[in-house]
Amino acid sequence: MTIPEHIARDVVDPKAYADGKRVDEAFRWLRANAPLDVAELEGFDPFWVVTRHADILNIERQNDLFHNEDRSATLTTIESDKRVREMMGGKPNILRSLVQMDNPDHMQYRRLTQAWFMPQNLRKLEDRVREIARGFIDQMAEKGTECDFARDVAFLYPLHVVMEVLGVPPIDEPRMLKLTQELFGTQDPDVNRAGKEVGGTEDTLKMINETIFDFMTYFNAMTEDRRQNPREDLASVIANGAVYGQPLGHLEAMSYYIIAATAGHDTTSNTTAGAMWALAENPDQFRKVKDDLSLIPSMVEESIRWETPVKHFMRTATDDTEIAGRKIARNDWLFLAYPSGNRDEAVFEDPYSFKVDRSPNKHVAFGYGAHVCLGQHLARMEMRVLWEELLPRLKSVELAGKPSRTQANFVSGPKTVPIRFKMN
Ligand code: HEM
Repeated sequence: MTIPEHIARDVVDPKAYADGKRVDEAFRWLRANAPLDVAELEGFDPFWVVTRHADILNIERQNDLFHNEDRSATLTTIESDKRVREMMGGKPNILRSLVQMDNPDHMQYRRLTQAWFMPQNLRKLEDRVREIARGFIDQMAEKGTECDFARDVAFLYPLHVVMEVLGVPPIDEPRMLKLTQELFGTQDPDVNRAGKEVGGTEDTLKMINETIFDFMTYFNAMTEDRRQNPREDLASVIANGAVYGQPLGHLEAMSYYIIAATAGHDTTSNTTAGAMWALAENPDQFRKVKDDLSLIPSMVEESIRWETPVKHFMRTATDDTEIAGRKIARNDWLFLAYPSGNRDEAVFEDPYSFKVDRSPNKHVAFGYGAHVCLGQHLARMEMRVLWEELLPRLKSVELAGKPSRTQANFVSGPKTVPIRFKMN
């Protein structure tokens, strides 16, 4: 059996993610009727859509059997895949960061920064992160009683944090924000490089290449600088690091900066904006966490589940195998539907409700296994600190208009969250 075409369309359609409900409904239908099945859509190679929490974990924990690098690590069209392979000497990915690597390289490259991202190291940063959070909250208070929480706070705060840890000076932050939005938002006319709907493969790849070129020009200069003048920042770790006893390859080093500079804030921004949206719509939950601030860590966890900003990653089977009674063949391509795993009725009670005290909350928003999000502790710390500073001052919040979401099937979330609030 294959997935009905209209359902499969919603799984890939960037507009279904902007709509929110449409993609939720498609995943709900799939979990109930075809939890592990094949999507056959014009323009795409067939791929399995994995919608159950248990199956996502089962695949993610078997990193030798399900690879990231053999085919594109994100969903792509046949035409785009062909063009990328032409450009990259037969390889299916334009970048080669951790998410486009398998062992043994993955382990070697991950080891380079793993310790840096551990809670022990991050504790040193917490005071500075708190200072940054307070700065944004003061700016929000200065706005009076209304703001667009997505644009005014949620997009800027994680950007500032990750740029500071990476070593990018504040003056370059607007450029980094623009380039990140261009990279993740190629399907969204409001943020992509062309500033309009772009359907064709040529034009889309041209935009992506130009954006990556700009990133690389920037980070090349940074590598040179950190080799001459090493600092305490993450850029210095990448610029001066060694893998197999050699400096990182050029593509690998550039990809490392780019993943940190992009995955490091858009995801956290989407989650933070989504949390405010949920609090504004659920006054009882707002009250609950305000009355008991010790609930903040569990509220942060719930907002990560609720928003699930990374909508998928792809895996490729390295051998014939079986998952949940279905026969998967070598070279089959699998779409891990994280938002679906995080609404799985078999795991989450009342999954469509935002509950600040949800426990347990074993969401899959950070993935699982060898590729589990490297920045998860940083993301949690940043969000906890923001809410610890903001909630005691925020007396009330409600929506001041209709929020909107970005149009993208890879990383997406709220684009605007207009709120009316009272603060002291
Ligand atoms: C990988 C989600 C924040 C850096 C991933 C993956 C997901 C994810 C789903 C793939 C996991 C897998 O394949 O199993 C998120 C979410 C975030 C977040 C939901 C925030 C709420 C961050 C931050 C950083 C970061 C703040 C860094 C500054 C990375 C890196 C990887 C990764 C480097 C690749 C890891 C690997 O393949 O070994 N993230 N992320 N992420 N994330 Fe995050």
